Amino acid sequence: MAKQIALFNHKGGVSKTTTAFNLGWMLANKGKRVLVIDCDPQCNLTGMVLGYKSADEFENIYKAEGVRNIRDGLAPAFESRPVAIAPVTCETIDGQPNMYLLPGHIGLAEYEVTLGIAQELSGSLVTLQNLPGSLRHLFDLTVEKYNAELVIIDMSPSLGPINQNLLMTSDYFIVPMAPDYFSVMATESLSSVLPKWSSWAKQAKSLSILQKANYPFPDINPKFLGTIVQKFRLREGDTPSKAFQKWIDEIEEGVRTVLIPTLKSNGMLLTDEAYSSTGVQLGQPILQMSDFNSLIALSQKHKAPVFQLSDEQLEQTGVVLERTKRSMELFYQLYSDGADRILSLIDHE
Ligand SMILES: Nc1ncnc2c1ncn2[C@@H]1O[C@H](COP(=O)(O)OP(=O)(O)OP(=O)(O)O)[C@@H](O)[C@H]1O
Ligand SMILES: [Mg+2]
Repeated sequence: MAKQIALFNHKGGVSKTTTAFNLGWMLANKGKRVLVIDCDPQCNLTGMVLGYKSADEFENIYKAEGVRNIRDGLAPAFESRPVAIAPVTCETIDGQPNMYLLPGHIGLAEYEVTLGIAQELSGSLVTLQNLPGSLRHLFDLTVEKYNAELVIIDMSPSLGPINQNLLMTSDYFIVPMAPDYFSVMATESLSSVLPKWSSWAKQAKSLSILQKANYPFPDINPKFLGTIVQKFRLREGDTPSKAFQKWIDEIEEGVRTVLIPTLKSNGMLLTDEAYSSTGVQLGQPILQMSDFNSLIALSQKHKAPVFQLSDEQLEQTGVVLERTKRSMELFYQLYSDGADRILSLIDHE
């Protein structure tokens, strides 16, 4: 079965979506068959991959024949339709034959309340028993259809029931961060919410009503792969400037002293050998990404990763082009190393 990795932080704008796309692409470059799933009702990932400009264009894909997005995929369970959940017809990605997108839907937000009730009551209502296991079930069916090996889940910035479900039914999770005060705060709130989610999942797994459901709640213990820190500004070479370094250090401190002990006592860590196999100490970011500058806009314009734009797409010449290409090579190397670390962590399980 494919391994599912959630990109989770309830803090907004920390590069979850950008990471899902670029890291997914890099893992696909390395020969993995990757399915990226847009679980954020904002649908930024879907918009980015498909290059939609207007709400009308989104509407068109929603109206197309068949099951083509996450909301329609889940509808049989959430709208008690007399049909079973079926795999989603995914979007292919120009230039990356190893990667597929399971598109998001703004209407996914409408399922949040119902899922919340189903999870609160933890299956005491028979009519809701199919909901907690339905998300992973839908993803697994779609994985099978596309023969995917890795699944990347792009999540919304929230601590709502959908994210609770997505995180606790993923095999692994990564916490993207930005080097600022809010990410330091986020580390603390994650440390208080994760134990609650963990004990909820433990209970859900033990309830026979959820096991006997059409879509049984999966028996999964999500494991922490690490943090990714984004958008620090370069000083000289490729080390973060002083102000950013201060926040990166504070984040690391919070991760080491608060988050990791919490994860450990909730069984959410891999073995020590797994972490040491990456060459990065547990608590340090598995990927530190500097500011993409102009490359981010070009990446979005051309629906291509920041590390893999052609000379033509870069729209530059001479020394400017050479400089941009050098920074693109740096991003390529960073993502490649990050992807290798992730693969090494997963291989150690
Ligand atoms: N390394 C980077 N350098 C420059 N800009 C970046 C970088 N990473 C992300 N961005 C930009 O920062 C913004 C937020 O990134 P992104 O949308 O990926 O974050 P997010 O965590 O998915 O946000 P949300 O919580 O709203 O879903 C976007 O405009 C993105 O283009
Ligand atoms: Mg996002």
